[in-house]
Amino acid sequence: MAEEMKIPKHLAIIMDGNGRWAKQRKMPRTYGHAAGAKVVEQICEDAKNLGIEYLTVYAFSTENWKRPEAEVKKIMSLIREYLKKQEKKMMKENMAFSVIGDRSRLDADIIEIIDRVEKNTKDNTGLKFCVAINYGSRDEMVRAMRNVAKDVKEGKILESDINEELFSSYLDTRNYPDPDLLIRTSGEERLSNFLMWQLAYAEFYFTDVLWPDFNKAELEKAIDKYNKRDRRFGTIEE
Ligand code: FPP
Repeated sequence: MAEEMKIPKHLAIIMDGNGRWAKQRKMPRTYGHAAGAKVVEQICEDAKNLGIEYLTVYAFSTENWKRPEAEVKKIMSLIREYLKKQEKKMMKENMAFSVIGDRSRLDADIIEIIDRVEKNTKDNTGLKFCVAINYGSRDEMVRAMRNVAKDVKEGKILESDINEELFSSYLDTRNYPDPDLLIRTSGEERLSNFLMWQLAYAEFYFTDVLWPDFNKAELEKAIDKYNKRDRRFGTIEE
């Protein structure tokens, strides 16, 4: 890639198409999720090497509980295995890990490992890697609104203090800048309740590639397209 490429500071990804990828191979959907989890590891590495500072991926939505129990279990166990396996590597690679979403519904051992990895990696200065688990933008905003209301009631803030910046500080993503680029794989062109507040000014890139087939070359294609777009944030050209 050319030196002068503008690299998004924060990349968000909706990893879609694991089920279809498995079906094409006459394999169970869970086989696709396992392949997808491996791609997550690789993309973290590629993102870091490209100079991306923040990466957020959508692993499990608040709606995904409606999937068959065995599939939910498999995705959770892939997240568990991923964390167990990556814990040391994250320290070695100076990565800072975090989770957004309502973790209270997750299995106790997963909550424990998430809390531990977050705590151990929080001062790392390399890639900031965030995984959305039991995440939904509407749920996140409702939780934030409740906390804002509570703090107003307790006199910690005034109603007149509420503005965009304050509201953002009540969201799960409070420590992250807004994403610059959103990638969704598998040909679907929807937000599916992902970072709806935070993506207000992001560029969207959709590709037909299924998530297990996503790789560095595809990532570079998305960044190349992002470079060709003109981000004006609602202003006009000078
Ligand atoms: C969407 O594909 C994918 C998911 C709902 C799960 C994503 C989970 C992983 C990649 C594995 C675990 C994550 C980590 C961070 C280790 P789909 O099942 O909706 O595919 P389809 O649209 O083809 O059915």
